[in-house]
Amino acid sequence: MSKLKGKFVLITGASSGIGKSLSFQVAAHQAIPILIARSEEKLVSISKKIEQEYQIKALYYAVDITDQERWGSYIAGNTISCSSNRCSDQ
Ligand SMILES: NC(=O)c1ccc[n+]([C@@H]2O[C@H](COP(=O)([O-])OP(=O)(O)OC[C@H]3O[C@@H](n4cnc5c(N)ncnc54)[C@H](OP(=O)(O)O)[C@@H]3O)[C@@H](O)[C@H]2O)c1
Repeated sequence: MSKLKGKFVLITGASSGIGKSLSFQVAAHQAIPILIARSEEKLVSISKKIEQEYQIKALYYAVDITDQERWGSYIAGNTISCSSNRCSDQ
């Protein structure tokens, strides 16, 4: 059994390239990816594909990680809420 099974894995740059590929790999190990990037529509699409392929509910949070207020607050541990697969600070 994978050591990742059931764990949450935060992946920045998840809407394309290395981050997108890693998101699918994480789900293949039965872990729950938290997809981070700015392009919400891409994150929605990736989240759906992961669910179809691996029956894993991938969460996503559309945020610009250069935004000190929003991303800084998240990293500092302030709560974001998730409804269905979508997470938000608003
Ligand atoms: N590809 C390679 O072979 C390779 C090799 C060595 C190193 N690298 C490095 O690895 C990194 C990723 O490469 P990649 O090929 O996967 O690049 P990529 O396909 O351009 O992906 C970049 C990711 O970062 C996200 N992103 C960019 N700016 C952001 C911001 N301000 N806030 C939140 N998300 C942001 C983009 O999504 P949004 O635009 O939706 O926000 C996208 O998901 C790069 O730094 C690259 O130099 C790549």
